[in-house]
Amino acid sequence: MDILEAIRARKSIRGYKPEPISKEILREIIDIATHAPSTANTQPWEITVVTGKVLNNIQQANIDLLNYGATPNPTDPPKPFSGKYRRRQLDLALQLFELMGIARGDKEGRAEWWQRGFRFFDAPAALILSVDKSLDELHSLLDVGAIIQTICLTALNYGLGTCIQDQGVMFPEVVRSFAHIPESKQIVIGIAIGYPDWDFPANKVVSTREPLENVTTWYGFD
Ligand SMILES: Cc1cc2nc3c(=O)[nH]c(=O)nc-3n(C[C@H](O)[C@H](O)[C@H](O)COP(=O)(O)O)c2cc1C
Repeated sequence: MDILEAIRARKSIRGYKPEPISKEILREIIDIATHAPSTANTQPWEITVVTGKVLNNIQQANIDLLNYGATPNPTDPPKPFSGKYRRRQLDLALQLFELMGIARGDKEGRAEWWQRGFRFFDAPAALILSVDKSLDELHSLLDVGAIIQTICLTALNYGLGTCIQDQGVMFPEVVRSFAHIPESKQIVIGIAIGYPDWDFPANKVVSTREPLENVTTWYGFD
């Protein structure tokens, strides 16, 4: 797949076919994606790949906690968005709710949608990225950012879709216990991965982008 085509084609997939992904393909994707750049070539990413029973246990434990009323407890709790960031966030949420037929006051529908993220969107596999806590946070997180996009782009080559997502790892203790990730590692992010179900309404979302003028500043070109 052409690189520009892949960059344009990648989108977050929130509905998957149950078809499993072979370990071989997952290995190939990760192997290729490790060509991503990293600070001083430190390659700080540690990738835990879960499927089958282990993933089911994580999904179930996340949902049990939500049903129990537990508050998600992410490693680095996100600050609430405001201004243009909130507008963009709302824009996406409204589009997704509309596609999924979730009305404004539909509390149950919204709760189910929220839970879906904690189930890794029912994907047949998930990747959990962590870094050693001894590392400088800014750089190691930048490095993880580089590899997660590379994983998502590489996955396209195998007909696979992905959704980078923090919901699935918002109860880090769950992931730690089922995927045996020790306390010395910071759990950074998850990636749901699987064959896209293109009939799933939310997969039809077209997330918008700001015009280039709004995100760039140019000097010295005239
Ligand atoms: C760090 C990060 C965390 C994300 N977490 C979630 C998540 O928890 N749930 C979700 O549905 N999407 C999540 N996303 C996907 C974004 O919503 C998505 O990338 C954005 O809306 C742009 O859409 P696109 O990926 O389809 O281009 C996350 C993306 C990133 C980069």
